[in-house]
Amino acid sequence: MNRRAFLKSAGVGAILTGGGFALAQSGARRLPVIPMTDLTSGIDGRLTLALNPATHDFGNGVVSQTFGINNSYLGPVLRVKQGQTLPVDVVNGIDDVTTLHWHGLHIPGDVDGGPHQEIEPGDTWSPDVPVVQRASMNWFHSHTHGKTAQQTYKGLAGVMLVEDDASLSADLPKTYGVDDFTLVLQDKAFNSAGQMSYALTGEVFEDGFEGDTLVVNGAIAPVVQSVPAGLVRLRILNACNARFLALSMQTGPLSVIASDGGFLASTVEAESILMSPGERYEVLVDMNALETNTLEVNLDGAGGFFANLFGGNQTSAALTLTRNANQGFTGSMPERLANLGPPNREDAVVTRTFELEMDGDADLAALALAWGNYCGDGVMSINGQPMRMDRIDEEVRKGDTEIWRISVDDMLHPFHIHGCSFRILSQQGAPPPAYAQGWKDMVHVEEGWSEVLVRFEHDAPAHAPYMYHCHILEHEDCGMMGQFTVS
Ligand code: C2O
Ligand code: CU
Ligand code: CU
Repeated sequence: MNRRAFLKSAGVGAILTGGGFALAQSGARRLPVIPMTDLTSGIDGRLTLALNPATHDFGNGVVSQTFGINNSYLGPVLRVKQGQTLPVDVVNGIDDVTTLHWHGLHIPGDVDGGPHQEIEPGDTWSPDVPVVQRASMNWFHSHTHGKTAQQTYKGLAGVMLVEDDASLSADLPKTYGVDDFTLVLQDKAFNSAGQMSYALTGEVFEDGFEGDTLVVNGAIAPVVQSVPAGLVRLRILNACNARFLALSMQTGPLSVIASDGGFLASTVEAESILMSPGERYEVLVDMNALETNTLEVNLDGAGGFFANLFGGNQTSAALTLTRNANQGFTGSMPERLANLGPPNREDAVVTRTFELEMDGDADLAALALAWGNYCGDGVMSINGQPMRMDRIDEEVRKGDTEIWRISVDDMLHPFHIHGCSFRILSQQGAPPPAYAQGWKDMVHVEEGWSEVLVRFEHDAPAHAPYMYHCHILEHEDCGMMGQFTVS
């Protein structure tokens, strides 16, 4: 029996209490609509993103210590347009070195915000961020090597919606906060005083940090939102440190219209979608015929291992939509969305192989104790090498189409590549589900090979390389990451 199988049978989830979850049951809160900064019609001066320590009430009446970006928790929703260049000032007001990475953006390595673009406390990092890609939902988060997990968990994350001419004129709901909502899903732990906590033990370390309370846009779930009749658009980010979430609707299938890197070829109906940390999906909910419908998070859909979590519940209501007397978006469910043919593996001129590994004999309890000061060098690795800031692992030629083959031998990991969108050729040895067949920058890896077809169009020099890594943030911090250049 390997370590993971042992933990499964020992029911490690039982050590987590359902304290926070009980609070969540006492009454549904309103969905917080994250303040949006809409830059699609132009930018005046520079955009300041102030990273600051803050306090935030997740809805249980208790003040928690958090980080925020222009807010008390998380950052604004930035709405930008293809063709713009964003002059950003990232001001580090937290008492620690940090970085801010633009996850999903097709941008050069020196403005990518990875671990090499550290911002000292009190300093400002001022990249000019070019937005060259198609409409897509992206995000930004701390990427400080060894501290990404803690800083992101505490609140250094936000959403960036890229629009383009086609998306702005598309016949889709797009009135923010009315029929178009951005949802940031996270799991949190709260201590007995009701404050958000981040407590790692050796036993849970292997899986990364998992809380027992679902939080939507910084409010403990379930949350409710009144919406007009018509189609409602939900743009969803899984911003958990480590937890996969299986999403479904209480009534009817999910109508999926977009994945990480843009619109799907056509709307895909799915009973449920499995979202790894870092993934984004956009769905439409038809509120013409229904008075109410609920977006649910199913943990059992993500594997029996999760059964003891979320206060012992298998299903947790994330967001309940209730229809009001207004008429909203009157269009119908779209069929065709984008021109997107199937990926052709014959296009590839290079194939690379990445094997993710965890050292089952490592002293994870000791590692968890020292967590934050020490990133567990050698416990986790890719191709036998734990992440090293001063080692370039791969050199990619700009414009080449490549196949990246990824494997692992223990548990489900979400693999991410910077600076690109890719297409999934196979996921865990099988074709990906229909909703994952469009543009992606995340792929699930467990048994069997996961293969992606990818091309890099921007430079990443040796002093500012791109990263590829597991997006379980504790694994990333612990060394399951590598660096590559593009030239
Ligand atoms: Cu969302 Cu390298 O990260
Ligand atoms: Cu990224
Ligand atoms: Cu991992």
